[in-house]
Amino acid sequence: MVTAGTGQGDALTMPLVTSLALVALAAWGVLLVTRRVVRRCAAVLALLASLGLLVASAAALGDLRATVEDVERILVQRSVYHLKEADPQCFLLPRLRPAAKAALTELQYDELGDGEPDLVHQHLFAQALEAAGLDPGYGAYVDDADEETLTLNNAISLLCLNRRLVHAALGHLAAFEATSALPSADMVRGLQRLGFAEPVWRYYDEHVEADAVHEHLARRICDLATEGDPALEREVLFGAFVCVDLEDRCAERLVPTAVPT
Ligand SMILES: [Fe+2]
Ligand SMILES: [Fe+2]
Repeated sequence: MVTAGTGQGDALTMPLVTSLALVALAAWGVLLVTRRVVRRCAAVLALLASLGLLVASAAALGDLRATVEDVERILVQRSVYHLKEADPQCFLLPRLRPAAKAALTELQYDELGDGEPDLVHQHLFAQALEAAGLDPGYGAYVDDADEETLTLNNAISLLCLNRRLVHAALGHLAAFEATSALPSADMVRGLQRLGFAEPVWRYYDEHVEADAVHEHLARRICDLATEGDPALEREVLFGAFVCVDLEDRCAERLVPTAVPT
């Protein structure tokens, strides 16, 4: 799941905000060590700089909020994975021993709709694309995918389709699930703020609760699959790193200055 950072657009790095903060700090400092007229002047300057800081910070944060165009860009890039969500991990099932296999099946059953076609997560994302006026067809935006998006998707295929990488694939899955619930809640708030219809944010709303549960389930799957073997645990850690690192690169590309809240 993309985690939206403020990146280089962080309000504290903006020149006006930083300058006002320094002026306010200096003025309050002068205020503490002076008297009479100088002290009154410093108080007025500190007050004005503080008010200016508040206004400039609010304006800067306003600039960081995602627009409809940002959201469409995010949906297009994320469609490359979400339209096949949970399919790659199905290839892990035959490669696991019974305990881990049963636990992963429980997670996958959820991802694949709990027996309800309308609740299949990849189908929910297709509905979101359609409601946002985008193409819900599988692979429709592969030619528009950023390098980072293609790298992320190739990594998932690599991990899930090679038996020797099964534990790394589980680590990737665990990191993905553990970093999904809170950003999904941000997405729901952002999509609602921008006036998108319910089918657009339903996919993310579903993941607020589902991935809070999947996080714990995925951790258990990793424990059951590694059985305390340090070498296998290192494989899991490697997969988790792959997930976090590649998702971070995608987030930097997709939301360098905007947060979807
Ligand atoms: Fe899902
Ligand atoms: Fe999940």
